[in-house]
Amino acid sequence: PQAVYNQMREHDPIWAGYGPNSGNRIWFFVDYEDVVAVLKNDKQFIKDARNLPPEVARRYTSDTPDPVFDAINRHLLGLDAPDHTRLRRLVHKVFTPRAIQALIPRIQAIADELLDQMAGQNEADLINAFTFPLPITVIAEMLGVEAAKRDQFKEWTTELLFGTDFEKSRIAAMSFVMYINELIERREHEDTGDILSGLVRAEEEGDKLNREELVSMVFLLLVAGHETTVNLMGNGMLTLMQHPQQFEMLKQQPDLMKSAVEEMLRYNGPVETPTTRLALETIDYKGHRIECGDVVLPSLLGANRDPLVFDDPNTFDITRSQNPHVAFGLGVHYCVGAPLARLEATIALTSLIARYPDMQLNTPVEALEWNPSLLIHGMKALPVRY
Ligand code: HEM
Repeated sequence: PQAVYNQMREHDPIWAGYGPNSGNRIWFFVDYEDVVAVLKNDKQFIKDARNLPPEVARRYTSDTPDPVFDAINRHLLGLDAPDHTRLRRLVHKVFTPRAIQALIPRIQAIADELLDQMAGQNEADLINAFTFPLPITVIAEMLGVEAAKRDQFKEWTTELLFGTDFEKSRIAAMSFVMYINELIERREHEDTGDILSGLVRAEEEGDKLNREELVSMVFLLLVAGHETTVNLMGNGMLTLMQHPQQFEMLKQQPDLMKSAVEEMLRYNGPVETPTTRLALETIDYKGHRIECGDVVLPSLLGANRDPLVFDDPNTFDITRSQNPHVAFGLGVHYCVGAPLARLEATIALTSLIARYPDMQLNTPVEALEWNPSLLIHGMKALPVRY
C-alpha cells in the first residue's frame, strides 16, 4: 500500500470517497499531522454512532438491534467517554506493567517450544509455525481459553474480521459469545488469579463491568491479540529478510532488537488504518468540509512514512533514533496491549534469529498473499527456509 500512500501524499493527502454499499462519505488521511489531529480529537471524531444526532445516527444504527452483535460491540473501540473512560480504567487495573512483566518466562517457554517444533524440518510457513501460535497462546492463557478451543477461535476471528457472508459472521459471533460466557462463569466461581478473574472482579468506585461489557472486553482482547502481534512479527521478519544488511547487523548486535521492533512497527506495521471515526458535527479542516456523520479513516501506515516527520521514511533502519510512529494509535484509544506486543515481539524474534540465523524467504515476494483488509496489514502465509 505504501506506493499508493506516497502517491496520495504527493497529489492530495486528504481524500474523500463514498462507501460502495452505504453511500456514506469516507475521508482518508495519509499525512502524519492530519492523522494525529484526528486521533487526538476524540471530542469531534467519535466512535459510537449512537452519540450522533438521531437523524444522522440512523444511517449507522439499525431499527432492529441484533442481540448477537450487540453482545460483542460494547467494547473500548466502540465507545466514547464517559463509558470508554470507565472501561479503560478497569482494564488498566488488570493489564498492569507488573502483570505483563510476569509473563516473560511463559512467553520465552512458548517461543522455545515452537522453535523446537520447527527443528524437524528446514522449511515452514512462519506464520502458521511461529508468529500466529505464540501471541494466541499467550492471550488465550491470560483469559483461560483451553488449548483445544484455539483453532476454533482462529476460525471465528477470521470470519469476523475478513468474512463477507453475514450469516456466517453472525454464527461466529454467537459461538464467541456463548463460549466467552462460559469462561466468565467459571471465573465467577473460582478466582484463578489470571487477567479474566481480575476483570470479572474489577471495580472502580463501585462500578463493575456489566455482563455485556465484560463479554465485549474479552472479545476485543482476544481479537486484538489475534491479528496484530502475529503480523508485527510476520511483516517484521519479511522486512528483515528483504534487508540482509540490517538482518546481519541485528544478528551481530541482538541488543538492537528493541529498536528493530519499533522500526518494524513504523516501516511495515500490522494495522493499516485504526477503527473508523465519525464526525460528530460539521468540521472545516484545512479547507475541507467534513460533514456531521462522515467516516474518517486516518492511515497509520501513511503517517509512519511521512517525510516531514521521519528522515528517509522509505528506508528500513533498525538504528533509527527518532521514531515517534503511530502504529499503536494515539489519544484515548491508544493500544492497551502495546507493552505486551512489544515484549512478545522482542522475546520471540530474538529467540527465532538466534536459533535460525540463516532464515530466508522461500517464495518470490510477488507471490506473497496479503489479507484484503483496510484494518489489518498482514500476509496469509510466509514461506521460509532455514
Ligand atoms: C487499540 C494496534 C496488540 C489490545 C489499538 C489501536 C491500535 C492498535 C492502532 C487503536 C485503534 C483505534 O484508535 O481505533 C495494535 C498493534 C498491536 C496490538 C499494532 C501489535 C503489534 C494488541 C494486543 C492487545 C491489544 C496484544 C491485547 C491483548 C487493544 C485494545 C485496544 C487497542 C483493548 C482498544 C483501546 C481503546 O479503545 O481504548 N491497538 N495493537 N492490542 N488494542 Fe492494540
